[in-house]
Amino acid sequence: MTCGPRAVTVTCLRHLSGRGAAMDLGPMRKSYRGDREAFEESHLASLDPMKQFAAWFEEAVRCPDIGEANAMCLATCTRDGKPSARMLLLKGFGEDGFRFFTNFESRKGKELDSNPFASLVFYWEPLNRQVRVEGPVKKLPEEDSEQYFHSRPKSSQIGALVSHQSSVILNREYLRKRNEELELRYQEQEVPKPRHWGGYVLCPQVMEFWQGQTNRLHDRIVFRRLLPGEAPLGPMSHRGEAGWLYERLAP
Ligand SMILES: Cc1cc2nc3c(=O)[nH]c(=O)nc-3n(C[C@H](O)[C@H](O)[C@H](O)COP(=O)(O)O)c2cc1C
Repeated sequence: MTCGPRAVTVTCLRHLSGRGAAMDLGPMRKSYRGDREAFEESHLASLDPMKQFAAWFEEAVRCPDIGEANAMCLATCTRDGKPSARMLLLKGFGEDGFRFFTNFESRKGKELDSNPFASLVFYWEPLNRQVRVEGPVKKLPEEDSEQYFHSRPKSSQIGALVSHQSSVILNREYLRKRNEELELRYQEQEVPKPRHWGGYVLCPQVMEFWQGQTNRLHDRIVFRRLLPGEAPLGPMSHRGEAGWLYERLAP
């Protein structure tokens, strides 16, 4: 898979006259890859989707046009089904799932408390790839959060103390002052990790790999965990590795 300059066909953006400030983005599209570069099942790096993710993630990290390959959108939901989404940085992945760190008392933290399921989306635009992940979320052990917290630059550690993430504040000056106070207080001391700051791990139950194609016949291969007693597999489902099955979805 190449990751160089792209042929982007962006046609003009024009204001819709007579409809206020609405923008017509209908003609804005770019060319994807040729059909010869289709993403076939035989191109999967592994039939274990975590290993497949690792292969795509590595390519995204090596791609010079991708600034933050670990940037992802995290969607959470209130108990009564109202969704919210925001960007986060993935801080690790492995057999247990996808790890990220945040403030437990933030909006996302509260939503995860009351509804511990979430969805992640990675979009690596220069590679025309998207990965979607869904599953239950739980807090990481406190030692893991402590360890990661103290591995961050001191200014970021202080930042976590300064900000009661997602709470309403008076102005920027409030943050500036609090930051100064805390920098002074912890000049010579280790910054203690706030109790309300730490990590989560999302254990994937569904993982979809999407590869964009020129002709809009995009490839979608979705893995889901085999449910206990789920057998036999239908003709369109295939047994993967590590307790997963995979299927192709229409684009
Ligand atoms: C690229 C990017 C990476 C981010 N990474 C994190 C992160 O790792 N942890 C975090 O708490 N917020 C991160 N943020 C800020 C969040 O998007 C969000 O503003 C914040 O977590 C509050 O979200 P909430 O009010 O929905 O809880 C990041 C924002 C961007 C744009």
